[in-house]
Amino acid sequence: MPSALRDGRRRRVALALAGSWAGALPLVLVAGRALAQDDKPFSPFITTPNNTVMRMLSIATVGKDDHVIDLGSGDGRIPITAALKFGASGGGVDLDAKLVEVSNRNAAEAGVASRVRFERGDVFAADVRKATVVTLYMLPPIVQGLKPVLLRQLRPGSRIVSHDFPFDGWQADATETFFAPEKNNGRGGESTVFLYVVPVEVHGRWTLTITGNSPDMLPGPFELRLQQSNQLLDAELNVARQVYAARDARLAGDRVRFTTALPVEAGGPPRVPWQFSGRVDGETMTGIARNDRGGEVRWQARRTARR
Ligand SMILES: C[S@@+](CC[C@H](N)C(=O)[O-])C[C@H]1O[C@@H](n2cnc3c(N)ncnc32)[C@H](O)[C@@H]1O
Repeated sequence: MPSALRDGRRRRVALALAGSWAGALPLVLVAGRALAQDDKPFSPFITTPNNTVMRMLSIATVGKDDHVIDLGSGDGRIPITAALKFGASGGGVDLDAKLVEVSNRNAAEAGVASRVRFERGDVFAADVRKATVVTLYMLPPIVQGLKPVLLRQLRPGSRIVSHDFPFDGWQADATETFFAPEKNNGRGGESTVFLYVVPVEVHGRWTLTITGNSPDMLPGPFELRLQQSNQLLDAELNVARQVYAARDARLAGDRVRFTTALPVEAGGPPRVPWQFSGRVDGETMTGIARNDRGGEVRWQARRTARR
């Protein structure tokens, strides 16, 4: 199909649905699928309400060192607001050349064109390696399809904020639901924003040792086994064929934490719980473990296997 015709068809769908996405979700899903068949997967143009833009940027704690990329950037309001109100740099990608033109004009009018740039392109081919924050207001199949693309490119600790449509199988690190007066053509409606912090990859086996003596813990070495599902971990420590299961094990970017009660002698019963926290740097981790009796030791771990 010639691109002018495709663009026209998109705009007609967009106009028909403008401002009423929430109420018309089934229709939008059908439209999104139909458009996806003869071209790239596509979400029609519906703007994020201004108060929702602010909440998206706030939940991601955007600041002047951030680079905010909006995938499917519409009129450019999210990166432009990030620059104007939070001092960030950024940009966006949109398939619609007219919207890209409008966005660059909006950025110039807002006085942030030196820090914010919009380009025409398909979100699935976008280069987001520079981004510390990625924002999305796209239909569920696109949000879901973008997950591996984003995880491949973004550095640990980068944030993804999605408006209304979460990732399947990835628990959000934070969620907020609130009233957005501009939704549904000004009749108002609910917005939900989902925050995801990109976790470092830690799956596998690690040798963990303790530095510093504590009467409440064997100094190791322990074998730390980690099974990772996004930021959530199943963790256990092993020594002398005994398994000491950990709880509350999770990642926040490159930060790791878990709690486990450990023995004072190899193979003995677990004593007091220790809260381990640390930082992951490739194949090593270092951190501090504390217990409720005022005990504190340093720990380090090195990966021995990735399975
Ligand atoms: C719902 S609007 C969101 C606009 C803006 N992000 C906002 O929140 O106000 C979705 C935008 O994504 C664009 N879009 C849809 N599918 C796309 C694709 N595969 N690649 C790039 N842009 C796409 C549309 O042109 C539209 O501007």
